[in-house]
Amino acid sequence: MKAARIHRFGPPEVIVVDDLPQPAPGEGCVSVRVANAGVGPWDALIRENQSVVNSPLPLILGSDLSGVVEAVGPGVTQFRAGDEVYGVTNPQFIGAYAEVALASANMIARKPPSLSFSEAASAPVVAVTAWQMLFDYAKVTAGQTALILGAGGNVGAYAVQLGSQAGVQIFATASAQDARYVQSLGATTVIDYQRARFEDAVPPVDVVLDMVGGETRQRALEVVKPDGVLVSVVSKPPPDPGRSKPVRTVFFLVEVTTERLDNLSGLFGQGKLTARVGTLLPLVQVRKAHEMLAGKPHPPGKIVLSLSE
Ligand SMILES: NC(=O)c1ccc[n+]([C@@H]2O[C@H](COP(=O)([O-])OP(=O)(O)OC[C@H]3O[C@@H](n4cnc5c(N)ncnc54)[C@H](OP(=O)(O)O)[C@@H]3O)[C@@H](O)[C@H]2O)c1
Repeated sequence: MKAARIHRFGPPEVIVVDDLPQPAPGEGCVSVRVANAGVGPWDALIRENQSVVNSPLPLILGSDLSGVVEAVGPGVTQFRAGDEVYGVTNPQFIGAYAEVALASANMIARKPPSLSFSEAASAPVVAVTAWQMLFDYAKVTAGQTALILGAGGNVGAYAVQLGSQAGVQIFATASAQDARYVQSLGATTVIDYQRARFEDAVPPVDVVLDMVGGETRQRALEVVKPDGVLVSVVSKPPPDPGRSKPVRTVFFLVEVTTERLDNLSGLFGQGKLTARVGTLLPLVQVRKAHEMLAGKPHPPGKIVLSLSE
């Protein structure tokens, strides 16, 4: 089978498509004939050896996938050959850019019938991340206010949809080209981050969700209410010693589970969530996909690899 691997860490050019034997699933795992694999910024962090999760080389990149179960390993009773599934490979976030991938059975779920395989592969990490930010970590309730930094991105778009449907008033930062899209997802106010300072446009909020990091996140501490919370998925926020009572800050790594995916599948099925695939590339163009992650212009929305061409 063909798989996109790295044998050393570095820029997109280190990715090579290798011919490998097809893997057999072990305890608690399934093998999946991959239809599509999602490409995300965390794949680039792994490629560059900048990720908080480490794996030995060589490794197959990729974590998000959709496809059809080929075989199940010992102890797997919830899936069988022929099931259409989506989800994540393993807690190391590797192994999905392959014609056949192994996935932990408790990190995948049945593919929502309303989604195509490419849409399904675009969703797992980013949609579950948005869900956990809002409901597991910020514990939002109806009537609260939230500022979403990076709302035009893939995690951000799900956070806007899920937050506004939960009755949270959403203030969002995005580039001008994404403003209308972010508003259509449910944000009441969208601030063009290249032209305006959100501090001048946003009242004190209960929650900040951070998909940007750096000085943007530091500035966002200023708009959190005294009892509010800032949840970041970029990195652990540094301490904020300038205050008598520091704002509560949280950083976490997403935990994709069958239960969380099933929850999201229900929302996709009801038309309450939309997936946005921007770029579909065959596996042989995997380097191009990573050049896009590194800033090469590409349409808005998720980058997805096709394994079936
Ligand atoms: N901890 C975890 O478990 C976890 C899980 C998933 C994702 N993540 C991380 O979360 C981050 C977002 O992921 P993603 O997949 O959503 O990435 P993405 O699709 O590239 O989205 C990032 C968005 O941020 C926008 N942006 C950049 N600078 C900004 C600024 N100063 N103010 C406001 N918006 C800004 C970008 O807009 P433009 O393109 O217009 O500049 C883009 O729309 C990444 O760092 C990723 O690694 C972490």
